[in-house]
Amino acid sequence: MATTHAVPLMKSEILRAYASKTPGSRALHERAETLLSNGVTHVGRYLLPHPVYVEHAAGSRKWDVDGNEYVDYFGGHGALLLGHNHPAVVEAVSAQVPKGAHYGASHALEVEWAELIHELVPSAERIRFTISGTEATHLGLRVARAFNGKRKIIRFSGHFHGWHDHVCFPPGGAPGIIPGIVEDTLIVPPNDMAQVEELLASRDDIAAVILEPTGATFGQVPTGGEVLRQLRNATARHGVLLIFDEVICGFRCSRGGAQGFYGVKPDLTSLAKVVAGGYPGAALVGRADVLSMLDYRKVEGDIQPPPVLHQGTYNAGPISAAAGIATLKQVRNTDVVEKAKRTAAAIRDGMNAVLRRRGLGWCVYGEFSDFHIYCGNASPEDIYAGRVPWSQLKGGISPRLVHKMRAGFLLHGVDIVGWPGGVVSAVHTGEDVRRTVDAFDATLEMLAAEGEF
Ligand SMILES: Cc1ncc(COP(=O)(O)O)c(C=O)c1O
Repeated sequence: MATTHAVPLMKSEILRAYASKTPGSRALHERAETLLSNGVTHVGRYLLPHPVYVEHAAGSRKWDVDGNEYVDYFGGHGALLLGHNHPAVVEAVSAQVPKGAHYGASHALEVEWAELIHELVPSAERIRFTISGTEATHLGLRVARAFNGKRKIIRFSGHFHGWHDHVCFPPGGAPGIIPGIVEDTLIVPPNDMAQVEELLASRDDIAAVILEPTGATFGQVPTGGEVLRQLRNATARHGVLLIFDEVICGFRCSRGGAQGFYGVKPDLTSLAKVVAGGYPGAALVGRADVLSMLDYRKVEGDIQPPPVLHQGTYNAGPISAAAGIATLKQVRNTDVVEKAKRTAAAIRDGMNAVLRRRGLGWCVYGEFSDFHIYCGNASPEDIYAGRVPWSQLKGGISPRLVHKMRAGFLLHGVDIVGWPGGVVSAVHTGEDVRRTVDAFDATLEMLAAEGEF
């Protein structure tokens, strides 16, 4: 981990150099700070001394307002499996735009979109569209509680399910969260099956267990197939619903997501990001009997409202549906999922070779179209064997080091996310891999000069 003798953030040469390369971003951020809270619109986009302001993007690259080019590993927060502006997506969206943005009515594209999801995702007997992954997990938990008449949920520390009240606080709660919700949310350390088994055996008020099937943050704290199989068996035995949050790993682990890859079928699944090809769109999918909680009841020639109400002005908007269909056809008909995984493996290998050459004990790991940089002494084997505490893998790196690393990468033409790590698309090239590995090397050089290791 980073040393305490490191150069403070405000005196960092890395941040100074980044600032002088990005004057246009600085000017925009100064304006933004007078209006947007903290000058940003997503906590993950915050960066000192200022975030990068992007002007346009194409394929695996994006360009900031100063004309600097970056290899992009934000990938639309993971949505862009096909990279920026994939021709098939652009064509589908462009064809739809003149036909209308919102019909306030059902339309053929939502049916085709649902058919593709049903074809690809093993557990998707029924589908209901939402706008965001947050809404999909929110709806999933509500439907689960309504279906089995129980109120508590189990989730795992570090697993991210969006920002609605049930899923966005650590054990003990957080400002703004209603105490009753904190009480009804049982938070277990990742992969702690003994504690899950104990809770399931000792309580009869648990509606569902929700998790990221790859492990927290797309595998930053890996889970593995064995835990998923144990969870499937334990929840089935106790009549508790199992929810896979595949918002980020859906259509990335395999064409059928993590459930397709591991061969474990959850009761409900939340999908977002890739499912809508970079446009706003998401879905809750799963067992027909569970999702029937959203259905009108036809009784004795009359009709009654659904037990669970689900509205949403922009659900299955035709432009998002067009982008989603175009993307899922690429997923189904081509090898984009495997290609992105292969490129991510090449990035991890290249970065690990840099670490070895420098004699640094850190590692870069991941299993799918992702890479995670671990800044402590451990190998990927240590991590996959569970020998590194989860709190070290997620959140164990100082914000100062993360800031410097991100700025260092930006300085060398690469935009990583603050895990730190990145999400890889099917259109990242060999040249992107080389550039990324070189940027990592150059960033490490600067971090060493600032006493970060
Ligand atoms: C696993 C997971 N669940 C839920 C969400 C929330 O999705 P959204 O940002 O679309 O609300 C995310 C977003 O990153 C995610 O990665």
